[in-house]
Amino acid sequence: MADDLAYLRALYPASDWRSHANFGELANFWMHVHSSLRSEGADVVRIVDAYRGREIEGLHLQQAFVPRLNSFLQHLDQHHRIEDHVYFPKFRQLDARLIAGFDLLEADHELIHQSLVATVEHARELLAALSQRAGGERQATDRFADTIGHLLMLLQQHLADEEDLVIPALLEHGEQAL
Ligand SMILES: [Fe+2]
Ligand SMILES: [Fe+2]
Repeated sequence: MADDLAYLRALYPASDWRSHANFGELANFWMHVHSSLRSEGADVVRIVDAYRGREIEGLHLQQAFVPRLNSFLQHLDQHHRIEDHVYFPKFRQLDARLIAGFDLLEADHELIHQSLVATVEHARELLAALSQRAGGERQATDRFADTIGHLLMLLQQHLADEEDLVIPALLEHGEQAL
């Protein structure tokens, strides 16, 4: 994200966030949700890679993959809804210089949602291929891996950009303001 959008970033370097007097529960919770999303996404990729590397069988993939993917995508979707409807409007009201940055983050949510929908479609194809056992399993796994790889790439960038906007704003204005 450009410096003029993340205009508080230079004033509040990430290495000092946690020691700042205004770093409170909300900032901590925000960072915690982001780190759970990163690790839930990585878990899904790990299990799919284990199948691609022939470390586990199709049945094991099916069992391990469905609950992990569901919980990751639900968590992600829920988090973005709360941001769009509750927190981003509050930040825009709090500081007009942040409006353009939050507009960009909201546009990211839209892109990420499209990528999430594609991930669900490819997950369905993968599960169908695993149940049919008609030889399409490996190809379907590769397609799914590409799709979720794209989703996670978008998400990583988004989470980092959002932290650069949200955390300095919380430190600058204080969490009570929200
Ligand atoms: Fe977000
Ligand atoms: Fe977020």
